[in-house]
Amino acid sequence: MVSIDLTGKVALIAGVQNSYSLGWAAAKKVLEAGASCIFSYQGERNQPVLEKLTAEYGAQILLLEQCDVSVDADLDRLFAAIDAKGIQLDYLMHAIAFTPRETQENPFLETSRDGWRIALDISAYSLVALSGRAAKLMNDNGSIVALTYFASEKVVPKYNVMGVAKAALEASARYLAYDLGTRGIRVNCVSPGPMRTVAAKSIPGFSQMMDKTASVAAMKKNASFDDVGNMCLFLFSPMSNATTGETIYVDGGYSVMGMSFES
Ligand SMILES: NC(=O)c1ccc[n+]([C@@H]2O[C@H](COP(=O)([O-])OP(=O)(O)OC[C@H]3O[C@@H](n4cnc5c(N)ncnc54)[C@H](O)[C@@H]3O)[C@@H](O)[C@H]2O)c1
Repeated sequence: MVSIDLTGKVALIAGVQNSYSLGWAAAKKVLEAGASCIFSYQGERNQPVLEKLTAEYGAQILLLEQCDVSVDADLDRLFAAIDAKGIQLDYLMHAIAFTPRETQENPFLETSRDGWRIALDISAYSLVALSGRAAKLMNDNGSIVALTYFASEKVVPKYNVMGVAKAALEASARYLAYDLGTRGIRVNCVSPGPMRTVAAKSIPGFSQMMDKTASVAAMKKNASFDDVGNMCLFLFSPMSNATTGETIYVDGGYSVMGMSFES
């Protein structure tokens, strides 16, 4: 059996809020594969949660650092702290999204300039802001993975401006893949189906999204946290050495369906 060994590698994981976060699903796999991790989190109240979550991994946890990705000074401080410890990165996990509540409660037609700006800044530009800084401290042949969603491609009611932000995120991943390609650094997106997380529960009609996805998907089921973590692990590992700029679905085959019949 081929197993993935990331011993000696270092990952920066941005966007773990609790044990249900998809960023944690990826981080757990990376830690179990032997890599060390740095976690950046939004807001000081998240620090104790992360301390508890990561405690069992001991010396594999190199740093926990507060970083609001909409604040350049926070981003600069995060990477200065990594640099000050003499750490070189191998991987970056982007698991961050936010949009003001009204952008998903109101029709897309009513999206305000501020709603658009905030959603795209935090959910898409942050990949560029993190990757640009990370690349300076990253070994060649590294890997960057961001989490996206199908609403970038097709209309998903209520997802609204977040769909636009995810389209921008996926396009950004392709341009970053080009800029970093000659260094062997790959940039890919993983696109899970709906998962019960804090961010997802705030989407109006989320339970219906889960049921609908499972009933339409080719495999007639939703993907699991483990499935998402494993795909991230694969994209960090040398097993995916010639794959970059891609969006890879982990959704039980929902996105390949063009029509479904009631069974
Ligand atoms: N849950 C799903 O159904 C689903 C499906 C597809 C894609 N995704 C994507 O997965 C990623 C992770 O989301 P999740 O579902 O695990 O929810 P989550 O709430 O656990 O994670 C979202 C994270 O974004 C962070 N964040 C928000 N604003 C920030 C800011 N200004 N600065 C720094 N961090 C900030 C939050 O602190 C949190 O850690 C997101 O990109 C989301 O769009 C989720």
